[in-house]
Amino acid sequence: MSMPFTFHILTFGCQMNVNDSLWLAGVLSARGGKEADVGTADVICLNTCSVREKPEIRVKNMLSQICGSRKANPPLLIAVLGCVAKQHGEDLLSFPNVRLVAAADHLFELPDVIEKILQNPDQRVALLDFTEDFVEREEGIPLFSAPTAYVNIMQGCDNFCTYCIVPYTRGRQRSREAGAVLSECRQKIGYGAKELVLLGQNVNAFGLDACRGHKTQRPSFARLCQEVAALPGLQRLRYTSPHPKDMTEEDIAAFSTLPALCPSLHLPMQAGSDRILRRMGRGYTRKDFLLLVERLKNARPDIALSTDIIVGFPGETEEDLNETLSLMEACGFVSSYSFCYSDRPEARASTFPDKISQETKVKRLEAVQSLQEELSRKWLASRCQTETDILLEGPSKRDAEGRKSWQGRDPYNCLVHVHLPEDAGKRGESVPVRIREAGKHCLFADPLP
Ligand code: 5AD
Ligand code: SF4
Repeated sequence: MSMPFTFHILTFGCQMNVNDSLWLAGVLSARGGKEADVGTADVICLNTCSVREKPEIRVKNMLSQICGSRKANPPLLIAVLGCVAKQHGEDLLSFPNVRLVAAADHLFELPDVIEKILQNPDQRVALLDFTEDFVEREEGIPLFSAPTAYVNIMQGCDNFCTYCIVPYTRGRQRSREAGAVLSECRQKIGYGAKELVLLGQNVNAFGLDACRGHKTQRPSFARLCQEVAALPGLQRLRYTSPHPKDMTEEDIAAFSTLPALCPSLHLPMQAGSDRILRRMGRGYTRKDFLLLVERLKNARPDIALSTDIIVGFPGETEEDLNETLSLMEACGFVSSYSFCYSDRPEARASTFPDKISQETKVKRLEAVQSLQEELSRKWLASRCQTETDILLEGPSKRDAEGRKSWQGRDPYNCLVHVHLPEDAGKRGESVPVRIREAGKHCLFADPLP
C-alpha cells in the first residue's frame, strides 16, 4: 500500500452484503487501511440493497447527509457498491466525492481500484457489468462475528420470480468452485469459526447454473454440505436461502444423516395460494410445499422452519391471504420475515394489473404478523424445560435479578440467554443448558451441572 488511509463501510440489506463488507474491511485492513468513523474516514463505502426499499431515496439521503456533515473535511473517496450501484450506475458519480460505483460482482477488484483512485483522485470509475464466472477474491484478514462465519457459494439467481429484482442487480447464477468453498471454510475454522453458514440466493441450486446449460463441474449441493460438514473442528453447519422447488431427496436426507447440519431451515414460502404462487413464478404449489415440509419433518422431526412472506402481491384477494395464513399454520413456522409487496424496476410483476392499496397491504401484513406471533409463542413455550446446547456469542445484559448472563444460539438458531458467572463462559464455547422460560423472541436458560 502506497499511502496509509482510513475507511468506513456502511452496509444495507442481506447477509450477502454483510459478508461482502466484512471481506472488504479485512482486505483493506491487510493493505494498511484503518477503520475510522464516518465523520473522519478518507474512504467511505456504501454497500447497498434494492430488494425492497426505495433505494434511490435511502442512498441519496445518506449521500447528502455525508456530504453535508463532511463539508469542512470532505472524504477523499465515496464508493457506492452493490445493488443500488448496479441499478443507478454512473448517475451516482454526479454526487460530490462519489468516485467509484461498483456492482457486487466487482468486489474482488475494489482494493486495487480504491488504491488507484487514492493516488489519482481525479478518476471516476464505474464497474457495472456482470462477470462471466464467480471470481475468487484475495484472502485478507478473515473478519467474522465469532463463533459464526459465512461463506459464499454462488452469485446471482436464475429464477426470475416475478416480484424480484435480484436477477437484474446480481446477475445470473454462477456457482463457485467447490474447492474454493472448502478452502475458505477451512480458513475460517482455522480462525475460530465453530458454525459455518453457506450463503447464496438459491443455495440448493448450487452447480445448476443456467448460463452453463446446467453443466458446471460441481458436486451436488447435498454433497457439498457433506464435505463441509466433515471438516475437522466444525460444530454446526447451516445454509441460507434454499428454494423449495430445488430441495432434492438428498437435501432432505441430509437433515437426518449429517449430525453437524443444524435442525433449522429458512424456507421462503412467499404465499399460500396456488394462483398467487403461479403469478409469482415460484415453481411449486401449496400441495408441493406442504409435502416438502412433511418430508423435512420426517427426516428431522424437531426441525425449526422459518420463512419469508409477501402480502399484497398484485391481484391478491382476501381468500388468497387466508390461504397464506392457513399454510403458515400448517407448516408451524417458528419465525418469519413478512413484507408488503412493492414494485421493483424490471421485475415483471411491476407491470401486472390489480395492484393492492397500501392500506390493504398493511392490514394484511398485520394479520400475517399476528399469526406469526402466536406460532412463535407456541414454539418457544414448547421449548421450556427441555435441554439443549448453546454456542456462546458474547455477554448479554443482566437479567431482572441483576445476575450476569451470556447469550448464544441453540441448534434451532434461537437466541438464548443463559446465567453464567462472568468468567465461566467463552465466545465459541458450547454449553449444555436447560430452558427455564420463554421471552417474546428468545429463551432464558440455566447451565446444566
Ligand atoms: N416486494 C416485497 N417483498 C419482496 N421480496 C423480494 N422482492 C420483493 C418485492 N418486490 C422479499 C421476499 C424475499 C425477501 C428477501 O424479500 O420475501 O424472500
Ligand atoms: Fe429473487 Fe426468486 Fe431468486 Fe429469491 S429465488 S432471489 S425471490 S428471483
